[in-house]
Amino acid sequence: MVFPEDNQYSYARWQLGKKLFYDPVLSRDSSLSCASCHKLELAFADDRAFSPGIQNRPGTRNATSLTNIGYHPYFLREGSVPTLEMQALVPVQEHNEFDHSMPEIAAKLQANARYRQMSEEAYEREPDPWVITRALGVFQRSLISGNSPYDRYQYQGESQALNKAEIRGMALFFSSRTQCASCHSGFNFSNYAFENNGLDSVYQDPLRMRLTNDPADEGRAKVPSLRNLAFSAPYMHDGRFQNLAEVIQHYQKGGAGHPNQSELIRPFSLSNQEQDDLIAFLLALSDPTFTQNQSFSEAGH
Ligand code: HEC
Ligand code: HEC
Repeated sequence: MVFPEDNQYSYARWQLGKKLFYDPVLSRDSSLSCASCHKLELAFADDRAFSPGIQNRPGTRNATSLTNIGYHPYFLREGSVPTLEMQALVPVQEHNEFDHSMPEIAAKLQANARYRQMSEEAYEREPDPWVITRALGVFQRSLISGNSPYDRYQYQGESQALNKAEIRGMALFFSSRTQCASCHSGFNFSNYAFENNGLDSVYQDPLRMRLTNDPADEGRAKVPSLRNLAFSAPYMHDGRFQNLAEVIQHYQKGGAGHPNQSELIRPFSLSNQEQDDLIAFLLALSDPTFTQNQSFSEAGH
């Protein structure tokens, strides 16, 4: 993982970032923290399709898991934000999330002796917007997960870590029949490309087109990681699927036929046994040692 030159890891920075991540001081009415929508026990995702912001203002997208987020080359589904440091500004300023401003937050933190001390230890300066965004970046880069049954099987030589159904599901996942691994590839099961995976023929949320205004980008989203799906339901940008059976039903139908739909999305047919196997494999990409890691919790060290 690449840490920016001006924001290398230190324990003091990580502690400050974690404290900020859990602190509702970041929201205008002090009602919500980052962790209100990115919950440790849900692999830093949310189980609500749309997480409400302050005063119950309606959210517009499903909160993504922050699993291995430090490896992503850009952020949000349209890929509009180049760094984690800049990403922190989005929920802070967003009307439907924290509806706050960095200078006001910094002023509140500067009035707090504990924050002044932690900020001095971490960055040798006052808690200002530069410090706040950087500390949050350091904490989020530590959210590394790589101890799923699949990892133990694939990288740690534990041939018993996957059972027979999971191994059959793995073969299906990597087959040209399903094409799953053409987009969900690599260590994080994402090639980070912007793809239209055939959810709709008309998109309520234009996804990447929101950024580029180019109709060729309508319905394209950054391919999501498939790690920790056992914790992060519901699925897709609008949380439309409650479980993985619904996801696989969707892919088997071959998509709604939007002009931008990827050619890799086309109908295929799995027996009930094969569907169960594929689901078993997808669930074997989940890492309970991650969601149970108490050092990521508010009280942990
Ligand atoms: C009200 C709910 C809510 C709060 C509060 C919130 N987020 Fe999010 N977060 C979301 C949603 C929804 C998305 C997905 C947005 C999208 O796809 O465009 C997201 C996306 C992200 C992403 C990008 C993930 C990716 O895959 O590209 C990061 C990083 C992130 N949030 C970090 C934070 C941090 C840090 C905070 C606190 C400063 C925070 N979030 C507060 C709901 C929230
Ligand atoms: C053309 C590239 C592509 C192919 C092929 C593909 N996907 Fe996806 N997948 C995506 C994109 C893009 C999304 C995000 C769509 C959205 O959020 O609207 C996604 C979302 C998902 C999600 C939801 C993840 C989440 O956290 O919300 C799952 C699960 C998933 N895909 C599994 C699969 C499986 C299983 C296959 C094979 C049957 C497959 N995908 C094939 C591109 C692809």
